[in-house]
Amino acid sequence: MDAFRSLIQSDLEAVEALIGERLASDVPLIRQVAAYLVSGGGKRLRPALVLLSAGACRFAGRERLEIAAVVEFIHTATLLHDDVVDESSLRRGRATANARFGNAASVLVGDFIYSRAFQMMVGVRNLRVLEVLADATNVIAEGEVLQLLGVRNPDLAESDYLRVVRSKTAKLFEASARLGAVLAGETSEIEQALAAYGMHLGTAFQLIDDVLDYSGDQASIGKNLGDDLGEGKSTLPLIHALAHAPAGQRAMLRQVIEEGAVERFDEVLAALDACGSLVYARTQAEAEVARAQNALAPLAASAFRDSLIDFAAFAVRRDV
Ligand code: IPE
Ligand code: IPE
Ligand code: MG
Ligand code: MG
Repeated sequence: MDAFRSLIQSDLEAVEALIGERLASDVPLIRQVAAYLVSGGGKRLRPALVLLSAGACRFAGRERLEIAAVVEFIHTATLLHDDVVDESSLRRGRATANARFGNAASVLVGDFIYSRAFQMMVGVRNLRVLEVLADATNVIAEGEVLQLLGVRNPDLAESDYLRVVRSKTAKLFEASARLGAVLAGETSEIEQALAAYGMHLGTAFQLIDDVLDYSGDQASIGKNLGDDLGEGKSTLPLIHALAHAPAGQRAMLRQVIEEGAVERFDEVLAALDACGSLVYARTQAEAEVARAQNALAPLAASAFRDSLIDFAAFAVRRDV
């Protein structure tokens, strides 16, 4: 087990039970897809962030469990939709819901889970919590659409890429970390500190995800390697290589992105290696982790704050 989970182990078990309960529906297909998703696991990183953040703000109310389940539901719904959009066939080490049940079922059950998350957050009766989650969900959708606009574009700038990452991934990490402070009624200084922590951590997490899409071990990450390339998705390693490769290789990379030519994966990987592009992306992720950890300075020292520091380190250390 990762060390950062030890303080919140029993809470995470309570959240897991809540996830099962809250997916109840009279509609058999919803139950079937939901059971499939829940049994597929997942790292439950966003619930862990809510719980650690609440702990660091000395908040122990039951609402933290409900909100932890809510952020996991939002994450699950975005993954259901994302795998349809990305035409992905493998997640969490097995067939994606779209591969197993079809695109229509994935989109519709995704909508069910989104709206269930909103029912649950209303139950917390805290307008600020609603505001944070409504904003986050909206920004995630924006990020996915922005990314769609940039597909098969070899001229995508690093700043465009970072905007997508901050929207589609880091925003939910930001909301998760922020919500512990919101639930605790913390000062805006502490809330901002946790929000900044979550934003930097989420950015690092996606940067590493994009590195693992080239260099990970398929069995560990539970997703297909080369999915990004196949979609013509320019992630940081490719953007770096396009700026540093010699002219011939650059032309090859441009063409591969325009065509989403995943069959040329090995050639692309060789170019990334030659340019040090995966190392570059990792270095950028490490810098984001340092920013995340530094953002925690205003928080009082506690075992929870130490766990948040450790959690950030996990984002770049991980191979899952
Ligand atoms: C996957 O997130 C989507 C990204 C933001 C890269 P996770 O890696 O947290 O997914 P699970 O829930 O553990 O499967
Ligand atoms: C992650 O995006 C999904 C969201 C944050 C909505 P990706 O498409 O890059 O992640 P994976 O590789 O499918 O997990
Ligand atoms: Mg995807
Ligand atoms: Mg995607």
